[in-house]
Amino acid sequence: MKICVLPGDGIGPEITREAVRVLQALVPQAEVEEALLGGIAVDTTGSPYPDATRALARAADAVLLGAVGGPKWDNLPREQRPERGLLGIRQDLGLFANLRPAILYKELANASSLKPELVAGLDILIVRELTGDIYFGQPRGVEMRDGQRFGFNTMHYNEGEIRRIGRVAFEAARKRGKRLCSVDKMNVLETTQLWRDVMNELAPEYPDVTLSHMLVDNCAMQLVREPRQFDVIVTGNLFGDILSDEAAMLTGSIGMLPSASLDERNKGLFEPSHGSAPDIAGKNVANPLATILSVAMMLRYTFNLETEAARIEAAVQKVLAQGLRTADIAEGGTRTIGTTEMGDAVLAAL
Ligand code: IPM
Ligand code: MG
Repeated sequence: MKICVLPGDGIGPEITREAVRVLQALVPQAEVEEALLGGIAVDTTGSPYPDATRALARAADAVLLGAVGGPKWDNLPREQRPERGLLGIRQDLGLFANLRPAILYKELANASSLKPELVAGLDILIVRELTGDIYFGQPRGVEMRDGQRFGFNTMHYNEGEIRRIGRVAFEAARKRGKRLCSVDKMNVLETTQLWRDVMNELAPEYPDVTLSHMLVDNCAMQLVREPRQFDVIVTGNLFGDILSDEAAMLTGSIGMLPSASLDERNKGLFEPSHGSAPDIAGKNVANPLATILSVAMMLRYTFNLETEAARIEAAVQKVLAQGLRTADIAEGGTRTIGTTEMGDAVLAAL
């Protein structure tokens, strides 16, 4: 088991350190090697996704990522921005299937900005296509046309791209509540009419899964109106970017949410759903649980170690039940602890 660890920027190094401790405690045979990605890679090598990182990531079975980005790099040219490193590794490794769970732990029911009765027991999985759409579509750019600046991007999907993400979503729904909602904007965008058609064509292969469709604007509304109507949501790269942030916020504790980005053979990149939080970096206050839970997703999806994955998830539940909280999820009657103490607590619970 070769694992490439990319701590990245901001709180990335602190949170990945705890996650790697959990990984090594549970799976001692895991071989871990670190490399640079994001702002730190720009500072050190001039590129957000250096060749050495590319080589290590390609050779690994899985990648564990902390977070990238920060104000320090915001004014760099687009090609050198930390986000380019993230988009580069997704594209380079063919990580087309992004799984983003939004789960509300019962101990954290008050963390949501929605009324507890609307979100209690919330458990949604967003399946976001990650290597196509307007994110990567050509042509793109800003140029002079008719004497003024003209900006353009291209949304496109071929049916093969839609079918392969559709299959991932149907399979995921099959293992959960068996309801799949495909989100598009077919009333305006032809690309997403094709999206809807291909999803409908796949449906007969999964008779145990109920497929529905929703327009993206309505979905944004339904997520805050009645979020528990959803089981699995499948959508394109751009809509998925937006809706997955919205769904994460429903839980009120984005510091708890892991994510997986998989290729066709379940090699994957695993990272917390939150960002690099530069304001709290290096202070030992960041919540490492999303990264620790990302290790659980890695063990489950890439290495098929379901028992070990479930053990990590149970250890996290236990720590929450013990009333231990990092600052982001603290509330009355709980004890606020730091990043390393949270790692210690998860290891003890394991
Ligand atoms: C995400 C992020 C990235 C994206 C950015 C940092 C490029 O928002 O992973 O959702 O848009 O995909
Ligand atoms: Mg995003």
